[in-house]
Amino acid sequence: MLLQVKDLDISYGERLTVAGASLELDKGEIMSIVGESGSGKTTVIRAIMGCLPGAGRVSAGSITFDGKDVLQNTPEQWRHMYGSEMSMIFQDSGNMINPIRRIGAQFIDYIQAHQPDKSKSQAYEMACQMLTNVRLPNPENIMNCYPFELSGGMRQRVGIAMAMIFSPKILLADEPTSALDVTTQAQIIRQIVDIRNEYNVAVIIVTHNIGVASYVSNKIMVMQGGKVVEYGKREDVIGNPQHEYTKQLLRAVPIIGGKCYYA
Ligand SMILES: Nc1ncnc2c1ncn2[C@@H]1O[C@H](COP(=O)(O)OP(=O)(O)OP(=O)(O)O)[C@@H](O)[C@H]1O
Ligand SMILES: [Mg+2]
Repeated sequence: MLLQVKDLDISYGERLTVAGASLELDKGEIMSIVGESGSGKTTVIRAIMGCLPGAGRVSAGSITFDGKDVLQNTPEQWRHMYGSEMSMIFQDSGNMINPIRRIGAQFIDYIQAHQPDKSKSQAYEMACQMLTNVRLPNPENIMNCYPFELSGGMRQRVGIAMAMIFSPKILLADEPTSALDVTTQAQIIRQIVDIRNEYNVAVIIVTHNIGVASYVSNKIMVMQGGKVVEYGKREDVIGNPQHEYTKQLLRAVPIIGGKCYYA
């Protein structure tokens, strides 16, 4: 088991926000977290990444990643883990990358920050290779661009390339497509699946769209009001939902992949 989250409680200050969340993920598995706004999806992802904002803290339960109890991680251990073992893709990678620096300069800095032995030209080569892997044409041209010169879909591909550069074991993607138009959304989701197939990286995707979830995931977790109301294999959740809220979500997406899973 790559990631095991058990009976996790997360609080902001005195307020219990997520209660009793559990999940398990193997290498190469894709899990989606779906649920309404404020249900705690981002909070769960951030707890796994060890970066809860403000007064956020894990108040009970455990998170084991690759055999390690990450709740015991020191800031130094987290720094080592980011990028090389766990990576994150944001809603709009434009927020992660500095708007006033060229992609190339940032990508090279990022590589050298983690691998100081790499020369600038080695880092440049690595970056171009990864940009090609995420199907960005003319990587040299992309490296030379400012973030605002790229489309939202291209920026997301850059985000995926940066997240994957050190071949992490898990990729956490918080609504990676919600800032994109529908066609581009599908392309980015497909790109994430391709990356999983190529690198056998485990993926957690937070999404509002259970249609997206059912299309790509091995597992689905449904959250409502800070609780996991449904969790299981894709076939089970889609084919035989137990919770009324899951049924509601599925009713809103009657046609999935041309097949009616839930009438
Ligand atoms: N930094 C914070 N300080 C205090 N409370 C917070 C903080 N971040 C989130 N919360 C609260 O935690 C709850 C869950 O928020 P979270 O961002 O995890 O929801 P979400 O499911 O990701 O929603 P969305 O779909 O809108 O992104 C909300 O009630 C929110 O107000
Ligand atoms: Mg969120």
